[in-house]
Amino acid sequence: MTPASLPPAASASSPLSVVVLAAGKGTRMRSDHPKVLQPLAGKPLLGHVLDTVGQLHPARTVVVTGFGAQQVQAAFAQWPQLQFALQQPQLGTGHAVQQALPLLPDDGVCLVLYGDVPLAPAHSLLPLVAQAQAGALALLTVELPDPTGYGRILRAADGAVQGIVEHKDATPAQRALRECNTGIVCAPLAALRRWLAALRNDNAQGEYYLTDIVALAVAEGVPVRASTVDDADDVLGVNDRRQLAHLERVVQRRAADRLLDAGVTLADPGRIDVRGSLHCGRDVFIDVGCVFEGEVHLADGVHVGAYCVLRNVRVGAATHIQPFCHLDGAAIGADAAIGPFARLRPTTALADGVHIGNFVEVKNSTFGAGSKANHLTYVGDATVGARVNFGAGTIVANYDGANKHRTIVEDDAHTGSNSVLVAPITVGAGATIGAGSTVSKNVPAGQLTVARARAVTLSGWSRPVKTK
Ligand code: UD1
Ligand code: CA
Repeated sequence: MTPASLPPAASASSPLSVVVLAAGKGTRMRSDHPKVLQPLAGKPLLGHVLDTVGQLHPARTVVVTGFGAQQVQAAFAQWPQLQFALQQPQLGTGHAVQQALPLLPDDGVCLVLYGDVPLAPAHSLLPLVAQAQAGALALLTVELPDPTGYGRILRAADGAVQGIVEHKDATPAQRALRECNTGIVCAPLAALRRWLAALRNDNAQGEYYLTDIVALAVAEGVPVRASTVDDADDVLGVNDRRQLAHLERVVQRRAADRLLDAGVTLADPGRIDVRGSLHCGRDVFIDVGCVFEGEVHLADGVHVGAYCVLRNVRVGAATHIQPFCHLDGAAIGADAAIGPFARLRPTTALADGVHIGNFVEVKNSTFGAGSKANHLTYVGDATVGARVNFGAGTIVANYDGANKHRTIVEDDAHTGSNSVLVAPITVGAGATIGAGSTVSKNVPAGQLTVARARAVTLSGWSRPVKTK
């Protein structure tokens, strides 16, 4: 569902505020970092929640921080239109929402999301907003096969919701209930203020539970609407590393399915990790164990071999990437051949038909069409023309120990094996550098330059003989 599907009339008369709870320590993660900053598919848990919030176009968004508040605020400082409320100390989820109230308008409705419930989709949240705008307390529930740790939904014989009991406060009979609280609620703000002020902390955890507002609404005769989500994975919370690992697989399987649906061949949909966005043309093939980070674009017919890591890379049509490559911040043309065991570093641009072979590293360099570095070569800070051939073991020595310098290699130049080009230097068009040469002056075009000691043969020499 698109953000535009929020009824404009209702949202104008009854503005939407969103409060995201992110103050908890996440004790069960056993980490020094706030739980909501733990990455899921390469993005902090809280980032997933805020992406969804963006689709709802709320009038206000308040993130409640507490444990590691500075870290959390710093991580989202660039996020548009966020406000932060500090909860210190952390006395429970109800107390957390209370800290956001001074930043919210008097009227309208408030949707409460939990920073550790990262995948709740906008299409499950919009009905709650509409129900609250019609005066109800709306909550999202889920049937879980193993509800351990979750608050349970208490219903009367006629099915009407009576309240929520936290796992730690529940009787054995209540613990047997499978319908759980996702934590996600939406309520008219005026009523929410009233209920939060009435919360008590006489429970197993000595906390002010947000969940207790349900019983307060029932007591007042305010309608309570509970909708159940179809896909439990959408509303799973992350309290420990096992749950985080489970959700990581959920997110990755969904990403793999989207790629398959878009026509990409995956050797094994269970062995690909996308930590960002991967855009593929037609007939792309991706072998097992590849990791994609940031923005990656693969054009039609690209083949990615096993166990490659591609971060912020563009790859042109029909280019073949062999196994075990690490490609970071590079643009690769069409019909190129990369790897195995190639390393491309940021601001590298390779034109069509370039070959980069095994144990070759290229950094901050451009290669013209058809140029090749097939074996054991380092090219750093170089502008390389077309049809250049780097012999095995060529090193562009770009760093003098203090500064980095550029090297220019013009079209059709060839370097012999084990050449060292000491920057700054220009190798002229069509030049050939003899094997084993170290050149530190410009190399003239169209000629052979050799910079190594001549071989000398001593006649009449005899090998030393081992003494007994
Ligand atoms: C909570 C719900 C439970 C629900 C479950 C769903 C309550 C009392 N319980 O339990 O009914 O089934 O989520 O995942 O709400 N937080 C604060 N300040 C606090 C305490 C928590 O901001 O003082 C934040 C946490 O950072 C977290 C969220 O609120 O993002 C939920 O807190 P957590 O302690 O994980 O609650 P659960 O025990 O999972
Ligand atoms: Ca939780």
